[in-house]
Amino acid sequence: MSYLSIKGGNRLSGEIDISGAKNSALPLITASILAKDDFLVDNLPNVVDINVLLNLIENLGGEYEFKKNKLKINTNNLHHIKAVYDIVKTMRASILVLGPLLARFGEAMVSLPGGCAIGERPVDLHLKALEKMGAIINIESGYIHAIAPSGTLKGAEIIFDKITVTGSENIIMAAALADGVSKLINVAKEPEVVQLCELLKNSGVDIKGIGSSELEIYGTNKELIKLEKTTVIPDRIEAATYLCAAAITRSNITINKVNPSHLSSFLEKITQMGFELEKFDTSIKINPVSKIKPIEITTTEYPGFPTDIQAQITTLATQADGTSTIEEKLFENRFMHIAELRRMGADINLKGHTATIMGNSELFGTDVMATDLRASSALVLAGLVAKGDTNIHRIYHLHRGYENLEKKLRNIGANINFVE
Ligand code: EPZ
Repeated sequence: MSYLSIKGGNRLSGEIDISGAKNSALPLITASILAKDDFLVDNLPNVVDINVLLNLIENLGGEYEFKKNKLKINTNNLHHIKAVYDIVKTMRASILVLGPLLARFGEAMVSLPGGCAIGERPVDLHLKALEKMGAIINIESGYIHAIAPSGTLKGAEIIFDKITVTGSENIIMAAALADGVSKLINVAKEPEVVQLCELLKNSGVDIKGIGSSELEIYGTNKELIKLEKTTVIPDRIEAATYLCAAAITRSNITINKVNPSHLSSFLEKITQMGFELEKFDTSIKINPVSKIKPIEITTTEYPGFPTDIQAQITTLATQADGTSTIEEKLFENRFMHIAELRRMGADINLKGHTATIMGNSELFGTDVMATDLRASSALVLAGLVAKGDTNIHRIYHLHRGYENLEKKLRNIGANINFVE
């Protein structure tokens, strides 16, 4: 089995270019189901999850070309409405085809996405919202079978009981093709949701309230949309991960092609830990500190501290001069990196959803196992500062969402190699 091998202790220096955001690219790809003719997308990250979703769209009858981070996708010949288990099981964000397929064809069959390592990850809020729009939904042997009896979804007022990113995206896409006006309340405000709304608005769909928690969407009544060419926004989670890499190795690095305004809560916390940041239009420079201050963090929805950066900053906190506490409020099981960090010498207590990290831990390289996408990047950060060699197994988790991570880190001085 292949693994990632890191020899810790190197100081890093230089610049890193941030790739397009995986979590923005995914809904942009499924929005192509609402489109007529070619849809062009630039700055698409070449990561496993993107290729899995493109494969699913092709499986439904779509066609695409994806070269050098540029995508041309066309769903004019889409003839299938069934997203099969084999593909959905590998990438639960495939649920994002449900809203568009149902809105366009009046019917959709999508394998019920299983849970994953970080939690049960139900999709009840997606389904409840579609039912409000007139869909009849049955679960049949592991598949969500959704039908719009009149063939068309109806605009409706939808209040999300909880803020859900892909739930919001699914319903925004369904509402874009519905008959009438939809009012969505308690919608996620992540930059990735905003980009999807801006794409639809720039392509002629009348949407009000973009960036707020209330949206008003005037559906086209199943008229397909000519989607304007768009460029995927920078990946704020990737950017935060590399800033943590610089922080933990006490290095000076600059990250380019980033949107600092998408990272405000993370940058605030890193600054509280003592790091000096220089922010420019599309880049951020971080300078090292001798003493890292401990920190208190609670993860929450955007614009709060992102759950997707929780594992990475937990690793950084092991090097702080004092005790930090990190509370994970979004997912029930997103601390699996802690067991692995303990094996490297970290001193962390876990009580319910709160991790207490003692700090001043000397980490030692050893064999560790990645359990999910962000936990794997947290182990990379630990390997960069650990004494000796760290071998990270089940590294496929990492390649789901980080483009060229080994190369980007090697280019700034990390001793990191992918071993077949
Ligand atoms: C998105 O997942 C992201 N994935 C996740 O990033 C991210 O961690 C998460 O949002 C939170 O920010 C993509 O955008 C592809 P949610 P999503 O629905 O949409 C509960 C990564 O590392 N919930 O916002 O699946 C749910 O259990 C990934 O890139 C329901 O109860 O997350 C969770 O506790 C990991 N019922 C909370 O809401 C529902 O129907 C937030 O989940 C939907 C969600």
